[in-house]
Amino acid sequence: MKNFPEQFLWGGAISANQSEGAFHEDGKGLSTADLLCKETYGKDEMKLELDPDYYYPCHTAIDFYHTYKEDIQLFSEMGFKCFRLSIPWSRIFPNGDDEQPNEKALRHYDDLFDECHKYGIEPLVTLSHCEMPVALLKKYGGWKNRDMIDIFVRYAKTVFTRYRNKVKYWITFNEINFIFMKGFLYQNGGVILREGDNIKQLQYQVAHNQFVANAKCVKLCHEIIPGSYISAMMEAAIAYQPTCNPADVFKTLSSNQEYTYAYLDVLLKGEYPYYWLNRIEKENLKIDMRPEDLQIIKEGTGDYIPFSYYMSRMPVELDKVDLSDSSGSTIFENPYLETSEWGWSIDPIGLRIVLNDFYTRYGKPLFIVENGLGANDILTEDYKVHDDYRISYLRKHIEQLRLAIDDGVNVLGYTTWGCIDLVSQSTGEMSKRYGYIYVDLNNDGTGTGNRYRKDSFYWYKKVIETNGNDLE
Ligand code: BG6
Repeated sequence: MKNFPEQFLWGGAISANQSEGAFHEDGKGLSTADLLCKETYGKDEMKLELDPDYYYPCHTAIDFYHTYKEDIQLFSEMGFKCFRLSIPWSRIFPNGDDEQPNEKALRHYDDLFDECHKYGIEPLVTLSHCEMPVALLKKYGGWKNRDMIDIFVRYAKTVFTRYRNKVKYWITFNEINFIFMKGFLYQNGGVILREGDNIKQLQYQVAHNQFVANAKCVKLCHEIIPGSYISAMMEAAIAYQPTCNPADVFKTLSSNQEYTYAYLDVLLKGEYPYYWLNRIEKENLKIDMRPEDLQIIKEGTGDYIPFSYYMSRMPVELDKVDLSDSSGSTIFENPYLETSEWGWSIDPIGLRIVLNDFYTRYGKPLFIVENGLGANDILTEDYKVHDDYRISYLRKHIEQLRLAIDDGVNVLGYTTWGCIDLVSQSTGEMSKRYGYIYVDLNNDGTGTGNRYRKDSFYWYKKVIETNGNDLE
């Protein structure tokens, strides 16, 4: 059996909106994530002003904006080689299109990246992780408007230039294909639905504008940071066919084309697949897609495939899924698989399938930038968390990852999701915990915020120390 490569990037991942808090400190503008509360998570109808009667988890989150030094120190204790985080656009450009970037915010990330390098930790940075400045939504209507392309590219250029000697791995958009979940039109696209909107058309337009922005960023990043790795990231939940009935087989193929392969084709081959263009024509969708856009997409293909992996799914017509039930449980039922407390299927072999499938199709290096188990952890009286269920989940996934490497797949790294507990993206809960580090906070924001090492913390440390050889 092949070993993990010597330079394999073990680590963990978080996003800014789920961890930083400090939502209006140091000149930060209001972001779309700052408007999410219990009443609005997973919805695409939003109030654009804050309501004093509501509790907004992202406003304080786990206070990572202030605690990053202590937290990165804990990551280094586990031996992290890589740490994935995101920059909120609304910190660098509070209104998204301001004339000058916010120097205080730029300095903050300078310090944060320095802190990573102090411990030999490679930062992997996402430019857009489920948030954008609210001002852009008000002024332009979010990503349905193609003006967003150059505004985003300007933000990207600012940070590429500033951090050209500090950051080599980049992701433009988190889970770019999630736009096909209706509830994520707001979170990923900054689009608020109105009565009578053609949702399909909006989704295709948002996706197209983000593809063009991504491709422009890829080109730019290569110019500014030679040797960098950059692409948009995918949510990799491959659909399985329920039976060998050919009708099911075709439905599964269509589902994977629509939800997964079309995106990968654009990002990595630089072209739209026939079935996507065909659908636009047949359904008479009015998409502003110009010849120069297609040229840009052709010239800006990604260097690697960063993806999240939590589960496999059953083929359903995704546009019929209403993510106001953001648990996703109705989408992912498979009689052969167990599910998490939040109804997400647990499918370690699916990870090997995805790795082989993507590598067969695209031949580019892969990076698992999210994977993990959201669970209700119990903090004992002596401040321990016995999360053997998490260890078991991760062990099984790492075993399959190793098998994929043994199959010959080129995998650059593995950063597990929520390496420190954070606010859930789909529900806003703190109780859906993924971390190796327990954060003492409750769903309503009460608690000390103290950090405690879980059993999985010591286990992952050993995994990294032995470069994946000891998973016991
Ligand atoms: C991914 C997102 O879809 O799933 C993360 O990129 C998110 O932001 C993660 O946190 C897990 O989802 P949840 O809803 O359990 O937080």
